[in-house]
Amino acid sequence: MTDPGAPGPVPHRRGVLHQAVSRSHGAHVIVRRNNTRKPSVDNSDDFDARMMNRAVKLARRGAGLVEPNPMVGCVIARAGRVLGEGCHARFGGPHAEVAALRACVASPRGATVYVTLEPCSHHGKTPPCVDALIDAGIERVVAAVKDPNPAVYGAGFGRLRQAGIEVRVGLLKNEACATLAPYLTRTCLKRPYIIAKWAQSLDGKLTAPPGSPRWISCETSRRHVHRLRARVDAVIVGSGTVAADDPMLTARGVRIRRTAARIVLDGRLRISERCQLVATAHDTRTLVVTTPARASTPKAKRLIRKGVEVMPCPLKNKRLSLSECMAALAKRGMTNVLVEGGPTLLTALFDAGLVDEALVFGAPMFIGGRDAPSLFQNRGTRRPPTPPSPIAVETRRSGVDTLYRLRFTDPHDLAPR
Ligand SMILES: NC(=O)c1ccc[n+]([C@@H]2O[C@H](COP(=O)([O-])OP(=O)(O)OC[C@H]3O[C@@H](n4cnc5c(N)ncnc54)[C@H](OP(=O)(O)O)[C@@H]3O)[C@@H](O)[C@H]2O)c1
Repeated sequence: MTDPGAPGPVPHRRGVLHQAVSRSHGAHVIVRRNNTRKPSVDNSDDFDARMMNRAVKLARRGAGLVEPNPMVGCVIARAGRVLGEGCHARFGGPHAEVAALRACVASPRGATVYVTLEPCSHHGKTPPCVDALIDAGIERVVAAVKDPNPAVYGAGFGRLRQAGIEVRVGLLKNEACATLAPYLTRTCLKRPYIIAKWAQSLDGKLTAPPGSPRWISCETSRRHVHRLRARVDAVIVGSGTVAADDPMLTARGVRIRRTAARIVLDGRLRISERCQLVATAHDTRTLVVTTPARASTPKAKRLIRKGVEVMPCPLKNKRLSLSECMAALAKRGMTNVLVEGGPTLLTALFDAGLVDEALVFGAPMFIGGRDAPSLFQNRGTRRPPTPPSPIAVETRRSGVDTLYRLRFTDPHDLAPR
């Protein structure tokens, strides 16, 4: 691998010599001096878009396996033919560009690389991808998004251009940003990507009446939740849910991509020392977030001896500061967190503007009753509720339930221009 710090000019490796521009009928035409190569079909916008679309789909394969790294996909094509493709498949493993180069069925010399994020130019867990692309004789790089990571931030594109590689940036930026949302959120906002999830009845209630089955959502929906738990860094609830349900919050009966930490927000440290979360804390990482004062009480020390991590968090308006808590989780390497309620915590999260995405399982049942909680009902009468409005909504069937996926933030806004 080339030493990125090595002095001297980067050699020209391919036929993109100087941009000798001829003007005909007002159009700018770039003329290659060694114009012996056949015109490549992969210069067409349509082909570029199809290849980038393929790269975006490949990127998604890394969900739950690559974080805190970004999910990235890459396709290498020449003259209308795909030579190789790949994705960043696991944390610490080869980046998408290197995976795609390794998968090439023919020499990639003179090919175009389609990649969803700017190739890296620095030594991280792996050597810089730009060096691999330059060494492979790549002629053109089409990238969807510039990397906001200060260690890259345009330097990758700069190195490629210096080496005479043509670089196009911004193709299918929206689509790529959707897969990069957790990475963009953690890099730019210094907090994890936050998914709020709850189940509710047709009359908006989140709690089943006493004596009825505990679950509001159907089995298919619950399985969906287990799949989600199996790819996030943490599952978060408030102390009210632990007191009411004594949940395990683990992913069961599904393929585990990563083991989520279980986190309880518990300002008064009222968690039972005999609850399931504490009883299994030695097996599955369990954090209790509480005030700095309560974090040094004898109860906190007993919890620590039982394997629980007690994380102090400052207060804001007499409650644990959710933004401070999320920032601390990002510092601990968390990229995606799933907040599973209940209604008090979910409402507070919305109030703090900390919901990127909500997954709402609407169950075909009524629960009724003035005391059964719904979202936003705790806001009181003095302050009129201003429920948040989603910027995008998708719906689909989930067994007998309807699953609403509501997005409240746009990752495109975080991506560098
Ligand atoms: N339908 C669903 O999807 C679903 C999901 C989960 C739970 N539930 C149901 O919801 C019920 C429990 O409701 P809940 O509202 O009490 O549960 P919760 O939201 O899980 O817990 C609320 C508690 O979290 C603590 N908390 C810590 N920091 C907070 C903050 N910044 N903002 C708000 N709360 C914070 C507060 O206690 P401290 O003041 O002591 O810190 C608060 O009382 C149960 O019946 C459960 O079955 C339903």
